[in-house]
Amino acid sequence: MPAVLGLEGSANKVGAGIVRDGRILSNRRETFVTPPGSGFAPGPTGRHHRRVLLDLISGALSDAGLGPRDLDAIAFTRGPGMGAPLAVVAVVARALAQLWELPLVGVNHCVGHIEMGRLLGEARDPVVLYVSGGNTQVLCFSRCRYRILGETLDLALGNCLDRYGRELGLSNDPSPGYNIELLARKGRRLLELPYVVKGLDVSFSGLLSHLQAVTPKLLESGEATAEDLCFSLQETAFAMVAEVAERALALAGAQELLLVGGVACNQRLQEMLRTMCSARGARLCPIDERYCVDNGAMIAQAGWEMLRVGQVTALSDSGVTQRYRTDEVEVTWRD
Ligand code: FE2
Repeated sequence: MPAVLGLEGSANKVGAGIVRDGRILSNRRETFVTPPGSGFAPGPTGRHHRRVLLDLISGALSDAGLGPRDLDAIAFTRGPGMGAPLAVVAVVARALAQLWELPLVGVNHCVGHIEMGRLLGEARDPVVLYVSGGNTQVLCFSRCRYRILGETLDLALGNCLDRYGRELGLSNDPSPGYNIELLARKGRRLLELPYVVKGLDVSFSGLLSHLQAVTPKLLESGEATAEDLCFSLQETAFAMVAEVAERALALAGAQELLLVGGVACNQRLQEMLRTMCSARGARLCPIDERYCVDNGAMIAQAGWEMLRVGQVTALSDSGVTQRYRTDEVEVTWRD
């Protein structure tokens, strides 16, 4: 019964989790929160992760009731993500693997989300909608790869929400996107905003720059409230991803949609996707918010699958990479 420790830190969250044969034994996480209006830069984010990661790992081991001797591998995020935070996590993973004489498993972050979603969502062969601060992709499994059917041509959906939240001066705690969701619930007026879907791809940069340009005037004149603006942003952006998700379901002939990534926690997005799925006789897989946001357990789960088929990473090949597309990974653990 292999137990795998997974380490994640590709953006502002850093985590350590342990998975053993489909059971999540522990999942510790910390978030680097910056003051309202500011984002997180690679350097300070990496230093934050360096400060907290060792405590997270010992916490994850004690939550699981395991010692280093009980582990069978150390999985870590190789990319994609921000350079400095990725490098911090990789250094710790390499050091522990040598100290404890365990194999290393370098995991693609997006594949981590998908494998965790497959474990929890009990989906056999879903279309995956991955929406987060750094990624927006629609994927399906075919011929040993998670194929990218569609993606954003510029900004990620979560990045668009977060940047607009910062524009409005909303708190970064727990995330600007969550505070947008709270305001959007009180919105009454739907403004017409740029809606850009090209086949199965989406684009959010025009939507964001349009909003940035019109917001001061609309707020000053009282034509729209911050609540209306957040509501309109969500309705427009979520309709775009729902449209491409529906097209992907039709193209893949799939009956299940798996929603993963930080934006998956948004209840309005879940509602829109559930409506779309039920209208076409498909199903939105259940969402567990603890494991949607970046976490160590998802890296452990993907690492567990990779270890099972011997897809381990040599020390000499364990460098991190900021650009690492989901379809670069050969998925040998699935039929
Ligand atoms: Fe992520």
